[in-house]
Parts: sequence; structure tokens; C-alpha cells
Amino acid sequence: MTDYLLAIDQGTTSSRAILFNRLGELIEQAQQEFPQHFPNDGWVEHDPNDIWTSTLSVCQAVLEKANISASQIASIGITNQRETTLVWNIETGEPVYNAIVWQDRRTAEYCQELVNKGFSNTVHEKTGLLIDSYFSATKIRWVLEQSPQAKALLKEGKLAFGTVDSYLIWKLTDGKTHKTDATNAARTMVFNIHDQCWDQELVQLFELEGVIFPEVMDSSDDFGVVSEKWLGAPVPINGVAGDQQAALIGQACFKPGMVKSTYGTGCFLILNTGAQPLTSNHKLLTTVGYRLNGQVSYALEGSIFVAGATMQWLRDGLKLFEDASQTKSLAEQARYDSVYLVPAFTGLGAPYWDADARGAIVGLTRDTGISDIVSAGLRSVCYQTKDLVDAMAKDGADFNSLRIDGGMAVNDYMAQFLSDILEISVERPKITETTALGVAYLAALRLGWFNSLDEITDLWLADRAFTPSMSPEKSQTLYHGWLESVERIRTNS
Ligand code: G3P
Repeated sequence: MTDYLLAIDQGTTSSRAILFNRLGELIEQAQQEFPQHFPNDGWVEHDPNDIWTSTLSVCQAVLEKANISASQIASIGITNQRETTLVWNIETGEPVYNAIVWQDRRTAEYCQELVNKGFSNTVHEKTGLLIDSYFSATKIRWVLEQSPQAKALLKEGKLAFGTVDSYLIWKLTDGKTHKTDATNAARTMVFNIHDQCWDQELVQLFELEGVIFPEVMDSSDDFGVVSEKWLGAPVPINGVAGDQQAALIGQACFKPGMVKSTYGTGCFLILNTGAQPLTSNHKLLTTVGYRLNGQVSYALEGSIFVAGATMQWLRDGLKLFEDASQTKSLAEQARYDSVYLVPAFTGLGAPYWDADARGAIVGLTRDTGISDIVSAGLRSVCYQTKDLVDAMAKDGADFNSLRIDGGMAVNDYMAQFLSDILEISVERPKITETTALGVAYLAALRLGWFNSLDEITDLWLADRAFTPSMSPEKSQTLYHGWLESVERIRTNS
């Protein structure tokens, strides 16, 4: 019986494989972290081979742990860190450069040149994005400019580009398919989100002529079959979505007006806006929420570059604690509200879009302790979410609850403070692995295990709702302190 779905979640710091049954219950999981490379100030790279081998080994590990064979898996879903850019030889699969990670700011100056030359409107109208080094287009261009091998392959018509989903599909199908889905394509800054195609004018603008782009599919579709040599049996890939959009699906945010926020390395707040793309006047992104049966559901997105990564830095960089599970009790011991940590390690994302800003801790006194800094780290994630919620409100969005997920969402201190600062209810689902669950659902839809999105909605179960317990005055005073701290480090205000 092919009773299982295997979700691959290839994230920024680790690769994971999660096994679900037909009821969407999590059966088993495996995870492997891999090295981050920081070759220069503001640069972030991954070795493509680490992405591939860690993915393959967690898939093999999860089958072994669950004691099942690949022939019992009905389908595979892939979700991934978005925007991260890979360029490889379409014939051999050999990458020509390391993967340039979404956080990487090396093309910030070039992006500013394009802004100065007046290309912002064209890019925004076609892609829903703001010209920024966050997205793939200028990263591809950088590789083309810097790598002689890329130049040679381009001449021979053999240079393939793909985001991580696309690269993994190519590897898993042994080079048989070069595909992506509309949610990942929408993050490249080359994809026209209205016409749903690679935009030739943008290809020219970013000087990407000759690059082989992947075929863009629905999020629930036929992406190819995993070669038998990898898992021991051929398994179809039927669900693909960028991790943030996958979480939107896993959170069953299918109705316009529903919103979720995922706390991984970064934090991404996504509002379903339905069949109509909504244009932000407050520097939020218009993007594809999902595409099913050729129908696009659009979304408005606020992207924060550093959320969970703050806690990772406090743990591994400053060595303030050993395990994230200690942060709740540490934060509860904090005595000072006036310490603010602004984690602009790779600049500031929405709504500031300040690539040159760098982080700061402000409000330190002789008496500041570890607990105050840990609490400031957790709170920074909440304050940044408030920045996004306020920007969405100014764009006309009106919601009174927020669904949260991702690694940090299990932290009750963070969830409660988030509710206090947003002054709305914060709902946490039973399964916080919503990203993986989302692509498992997409694969299941293709298999016909679900007949409608309503059937998925029925499976969403709340674990806990957090409601505001702080006075609005206190909440606003604290947030005001955050805004002042951010102003201290901004370079573009
Ligand atoms: O846009 C980047 C995002 O997809 C990365 O997600 O979970 O690795 O923070 P995560």
C-alpha cells in the first residue's frame, strides 16, 4: 500500500525529510544541518553538494527510521528556501558556482544602480517585487559575470538556472526534468506574475539571455519521477512550493484575508489576497500564494531576513545559552524592557529595505544581563512582525488574528509577547511543521486524496490561542522604543 507522503523541506540551515500518513499525521522525521559559508562581508553561500547530499541522506534516514520502503510512498513534495540561486551544466548537473543564498547582499550596489536608472516601476508592475539583491535575478547575473565556466556554458547553450526546488528536482530525476512551480518562480524577479511566464523584457534587463530557465508548473502537478537509484523505488514528485507559501497552505489560509507568519531563519508574514494581486504602497511584496489548476491565488508578503537566526547567533556566536528551549525561562527572568536588539545582520527587509543597515543592541546599562539580551532577541522578532502588520494595515488589510508556525512558534514567551505587541489573537496549530505539511497536501491533492481545499481546512487544529494581556499603552510605548532603535541604524531613512 502506498500510504505515505514524503515532504522534503530544504531550508536555509538544514535539510529535513518528514513522513506523513493519509490523515496528515506526522509519522517520522529526519534532519541534517549543513555548513554556511560567508566568504565576504554580506555574502552567504551554500555548497550545492551539501544541499543535495543532506537532502538525500535525510530522505534515506526517514525511511529507515520509520522502517518503510520507498515503494510505500505515494508521492513526494518539495518545499525550499526561496530565491537561493543555483546555476549548473544542464547536461552534467555540475554547478558552476556555490548556491548564492537569499540573504546574500553582494548585488546590493547593482540593484541600487537599477533603481537610480528608474527601473523600479517596470520590475514592480511585472513581478510584484522591489528591486533588491534578495531575489534571484541579480545573483544569476553576478555568476554570469564572474565565472568563466558560466560564460563558456552560456555560449554552448548549456547553462541552467534554478532555485533550490528546481535543482533538487533535476538531481532526484537524474536530469530528466528541469521544472519549478509558480511560487518559486515568483521570487526570481524574472517571472511575470500576471502573465505567469518568464518575462523577456526582464531577461534582457538583467542580461540573462541564453540562460535555460525551468518550466513553471502549478504547485500541485507532475514534476517528474525520482530515479530508483536514490531511494530504491521510483516515486513521483507532485507538490512543490517555496517554504513560505507551503506554510500558507499548511496553515489552511485559503480564504482572502487569512494571514500566517512563519518563524524560521527569517520571518515571513503572508496574507492571502485571492484571485486579485494587491499592490502595496508600503513596500510589501505582491507574490503568488499558490497556483492550482492554472488558477493563481495571490498574496501580500512582508519579509524579515533575521528571526530564528537571531537566537542562533545568541546561542552559537555569543554562547548565551546552549539550547533554544532555555530561552523562554531566560526571557522570563529579564528585568529591563528598555534593551532592544535590532538584528539587521544582513540589512533590513520589509518595510525598510535597507541593505546597508547593520545590527545593534541599544539600551545597555552596567546592570544588563544575559536574560535581558535573550528577551530582547525574542522580542525583536515580535517587533519586526508588528512592522509588517502595520504596513499591511496601511495597505488596507484588516485582520484580527494571526496564525503562526515554524521553529520559534513553539516558544510561549515569544507567542504571548507577539499577541501583546500586535494587540490581536495569535493562533498556533497542533502541527507547527506547516511548511512540510503544506507540500504534503499539495502532493495529496494531485493524487486525488483530497477533492477540495475545504477538506484540508477541516484538518487544521489549534494547539493554543494567545490573547493580549498587556495594556495597549504599555504595548505602544514598547513598540515606540523599537522604532527609535531601528532609526539609529538605518542608512536610507
Ligand atoms: O525567502 C527566504 C525563505 O524562503 C527562507 O526561509 O525558513 O529558511 O527562513 P527559512
